[in-house]
Amino acid sequence: MSDQAEAVIEAREVVAGYLPGVNILNGCSVAAYPGEMIGIIGPNGAGKSTLLKAMFGLVKVHSGSVIMRGEEITNLRANRLVEMGVGFVPQNNNVFPTLSIEENLRMGLFMRPKKLPERLAAMWDLFPVLHERRNQRAGALSGGERQSLAMARALMMEPSVLLLDEPSAGLSPVRQDETFLRTRRINKTGVCVVMVEQNARRCLQICDRGYVLDQGKDAHTGTGRELANDPKVIQLYLGTLATDVEAEKGAH
Ligand SMILES: Nc1ncnc2c1ncn2[C@@H]1O[C@H](COP(=O)(O)OP(=O)(O)OP(=O)(O)O)[C@@H](O)[C@H]1O
Ligand SMILES: [Mg+2]
Repeated sequence: MSDQAEAVIEAREVVAGYLPGVNILNGCSVAAYPGEMIGIIGPNGAGKSTLLKAMFGLVKVHSGSVIMRGEEITNLRANRLVEMGVGFVPQNNNVFPTLSIEENLRMGLFMRPKKLPERLAAMWDLFPVLHERRNQRAGALSGGERQSLAMARALMMEPSVLLLDEPSAGLSPVRQDETFLRTRRINKTGVCVVMVEQNARRCLQICDRGYVLDQGKDAHTGTGRELANDPKVIQLYLGTLATDVEAEKGAH
């Protein structure tokens, strides 16, 4: 049982930033346990993307640590983390625009070419739209479609941890829901998911647990349901909750 209590990936009191003397994360802690899909929400500029980048070795961690199954991985280089089974899908600039969709996926598996046919087939199955357009340049995809391609590219390596920065951004409501459900399906195959999302309400519905980030710290945590129903969280961070619901009503 003690194994089960060990986080698959964890940020512990992480202090990090881009410029000397300017910390964006101020002692931020989040943890994802085996089988979990966790959601990270919070206002713009709270440090959500910075947290994922710090966990993936792209932003220097000044103090605190990032731990994967008990092993310290703080400030390891991204390529080492990929080898260890961490996949990261950044919020922006996440595909090679001049390469075709298929070439982008091949790039995702450059370290294990023998697995290529099997992994490509799995991705075409998961993302039929990408299969239809596999010979088109990735630069021709919409922002949301690029997000799908970036997720597929990360999945080529069969990661055991997937860090996703706003996978539903730029998608229509139907496509957003597809993305959430697909992510959940990926999670159910045993991949631990850490997902940053603007669409806070839906994110909390679909995730096992969530964290609300504010000014570079984890301000609230709980199950999705607890957070979504916490008056403090609603008032401070899900202010858009009612608006979302109204907007949806208006759309039908
Ligand atoms: N490359 C960078 N160099 C310097 N400062 C940065 C850089 N990227 C982000 N920041 C700053 O760090 C802070 C947190 O940014 P971050 O992108 O982590 O927020 P976020 O919670 O992901 O916001 P959003 O919801 O808009 O994506 C912001 O004040 C931002 O200006
Ligand atoms: Mg962000």
